[in-house]
Amino acid sequence: MSSTLPNALDQPLLRRADLGDFLLPNRVVMAPVTRGRAANDGLVPTELHAAYYGQRATAGLIITEGTWVSERAIGFVHVPGIYREEQVAGWRRVTDVVHALGGRIVLQLWHTGAASHPDHLGGELPGGPSAVNPHTRCFTAGGFKESVTPREMTTADITATVADFRAASAHARRAGFDGVEIGALGSFLIPQFLNPRLNHRTDAYGGDRTGRRRLLLEIFDAVAMAWSGRRVGVRLGPYWTEGDRFRADEETLADYDALVRELNDRPVAYLHLRGRDRIAAGGTPDLAAIARYRRQFDGPLIANNGFDRASGNAVIDAGIADAVSFATHFIANPDLVTRFALHREPAVGDPATYYAGGADGYVDYPMSGMEASLLERR
Ligand SMILES: Cc1cc2nc3c(=O)[nH]c(=O)nc-3n(C[C@H](O)[C@H](O)[C@H](O)COP(=O)(O)O)c2cc1C
Repeated sequence: MSSTLPNALDQPLLRRADLGDFLLPNRVVMAPVTRGRAANDGLVPTELHAAYYGQRATAGLIITEGTWVSERAIGFVHVPGIYREEQVAGWRRVTDVVHALGGRIVLQLWHTGAASHPDHLGGELPGGPSAVNPHTRCFTAGGFKESVTPREMTTADITATVADFRAASAHARRAGFDGVEIGALGSFLIPQFLNPRLNHRTDAYGGDRTGRRRLLLEIFDAVAMAWSGRRVGVRLGPYWTEGDRFRADEETLADYDALVRELNDRPVAYLHLRGRDRIAAGGTPDLAAIARYRRQFDGPLIANNGFDRASGNAVIDAGIADAVSFATHFIANPDLVTRFALHREPAVGDPATYYAGGADGYVDYPMSGMEASLLERR
């Protein structure tokens, strides 16, 4: 064997780690990426999904694309659900392939709330914490459309939504997933409730930061009922910035601090944190922004947003994160772990095919054969 070969295990990203009850052979996590490939009436994952996730089975952990917990949650085209039996069967095909190839896979649970559009809801208004337009855009069959002013959800709506999350979590378990991740990121339902600019409620689900975080905590408790041990992760984006409604300031960051400390009392498998956006393209991620949550959260932390091999190794080496998730790199590099091990440059994906449907730009990114790589390096 050539002495010029890098020693893969010198890299923190390639060391094993336990995140809750998930035992990872490496710390290279596949981040959730919506790909719009469930182009069928039932929003059922297809054989293409099984091929796509199977190609990425060497990830330390796969987190699936955001997946609808119910019909009311829908707010994007061709995204699969987990609320019908055919969907459970479709996902079973995916989890079987990933497990047969030695991988681990959790399902991300998604609800768009006020960021949906009447086009997705049979003409009805979407529900949100209050009747305040989130000022975002929704991807519909007719392309991107401006969000509307939603109707304020009643307490009965909220109870039904928590029940939808609980049922979806139980379905995910029957579909063979190793666990689930609660998607509480972006401009969607849970962050809408956390956001004082959108949540003007005066009942138990608003009023102050304790009220605003109640929905997420109730959803966590409901979702965790389907699992024993620590198999539910939470994804947060405290720095999420969009339009005039979503931006981080001292008040919102203090809310997230308190929320994260509250999560310490629950059996959270991991906190999946999307850090600040990089100021300049090619710049390195702001590690201090992630370290803030390392100090508040007692459990395992997955860092995300703008990482590459070097910065991923650095954030683990500094003790700030236990693992790093990669979204765009995993789209274009099914064999990202191998590429990191061999110090090979990752390929660059084509954004035009991110949501385009079909196999192009989905399951046709080349794998760099391990043997070919070894030979090249001799
Ligand atoms: C095409 C695309 C789809 C995405 N879909 C989701 C999603 O379904 N759920 C989610 O939490 N984040 C989603 N994200 C955000 C990514 O998980 C991640 O936070 C972001 O791409 C930054 O990570 P990266 O620098 O490794 O690409 C998506 C990102 C992209 C590019």
